[in-house]
Amino acid sequence: MAETHRAAIIGTGGIANTHAGYYKSDERTEIVAGADINEEHLTEFCDKHEIPDRYLDYEEMLEEQQPDIVSVCTWNGTHPEITISAAQAGAKAIISEKPMGEDLGGPMDAVTECERRGVKLVVHHQTRFRPGLCAVRELIAEGAIGAPVSMHYNTGGGLLNIGSHSIDNYRWMLGDPAWSAVVGWIQRDTNRFERGSYCEEKTHALIEFDGGSEMILSIDMVDGQKAKEFTINGPEGIIKFDREWATVINAEGAQEIEMKPQPTYLGELIEWMEGGPEHRNAGRIALVSQQIMMAIYESARSRRRVEMPYDKRECPLEEMIEQGMLPSGGEPYDTRHEDALAYAEMRRRNP
Ligand SMILES: NC(=O)c1ccc[n+]([C@@H]2O[C@H](COP(=O)([O-])OP(=O)(O)OC[C@H]3O[C@@H](n4cnc5c(N)ncnc54)[C@H](O)[C@@H]3O)[C@@H](O)[C@H]2O)c1
Repeated sequence: MAETHRAAIIGTGGIANTHAGYYKSDERTEIVAGADINEEHLTEFCDKHEIPDRYLDYEEMLEEQQPDIVSVCTWNGTHPEITISAAQAGAKAIISEKPMGEDLGGPMDAVTECERRGVKLVVHHQTRFRPGLCAVRELIAEGAIGAPVSMHYNTGGGLLNIGSHSIDNYRWMLGDPAWSAVVGWIQRDTNRFERGSYCEEKTHALIEFDGGSEMILSIDMVDGQKAKEFTINGPEGIIKFDREWATVINAEGAQEIEMKPQPTYLGELIEWMEGGPEHRNAGRIALVSQQIMMAIYESARSRRRVEMPYDKRECPLEEMIEQGMLPSGGEPYDTRHEDALAYAEMRRRNP
């Protein structure tokens, strides 16, 4: 009989339900424990998903339970340290929520620690499994619209929050190319946070990839903006797509692409744990998207085109705010969870 992998979830709020769904629908895994600093969230979540063991301290949970797979579903700034703790406690695999952190140093350390210990770290950029994006990836690889390609990604919800998915999506569709340079612009007139992380109000960026592909990223340029349909352009055609469909238009005419079934997010991780190929969301791959986001902030801070190599550990947005480079007036507010902001403020006072 196949081995059952014991899973534990740290941070039992909204997105943790998706992780619980993964574990509950795969018979090779069982959820043995949950941990959260908020007892109400913990009880409600564990009751709902029938999780037996509950902890207010995730370190205690890791030590007592020794889980094989750990989901890190807490607020952004805590992802690197919890990932590192889980790796050091002996987890075989970790699913970290996006963004990987609030800077580049923490995520780099998390990837290094996991690679050093042979821990399979994946980041939850789950849209890489959506059939529409997978179809675009195949079309581009086949040369259906020529090369290089470009795309204007117009969306809303903050750079770290939604930009992490957008940049990761574009890299996935292009076959994960390296980036060469970034030009970034941001605006932050109010004291805005997103799940406790410093957050800009508007972002505009040009990201250049090896091979000449380019991504224009516009986030929150229009209030309440949310993208519904995307277009990727090539010298020999265009592809229109969203997560569940794709249409290619080239010299052969317009063709709606048949969607192919995809493996599951967790299934691909278990295969990797059991000696199969690397997961498409491996930490080292997601780290590139984190690096690009920090380079966008750095370009806005330095008012320069930022080129590879880029390995500055600190978050340039935080630097700009702390050095008074952004006016950012008024009371602090969080676009998602006020308790996340209170928690982040407490951590900033007591680092
Ligand atoms: N991949 C996706 O599509 C997706 C979607 C939504 C959220 N997310 C990400 O998931 C993370 C959580 O977002 P959410 O909306 O579920 O937040 P949430 O507030 O609903 O849940 C977070 C939970 O983590 C707990 N927590 C925070 N710090 C903790 C700590 N140190 N130890 C234990 N528990 C702690 C909180 O008490 C809370 O219950 C964020 O980083 C967010 O960006 C990803």
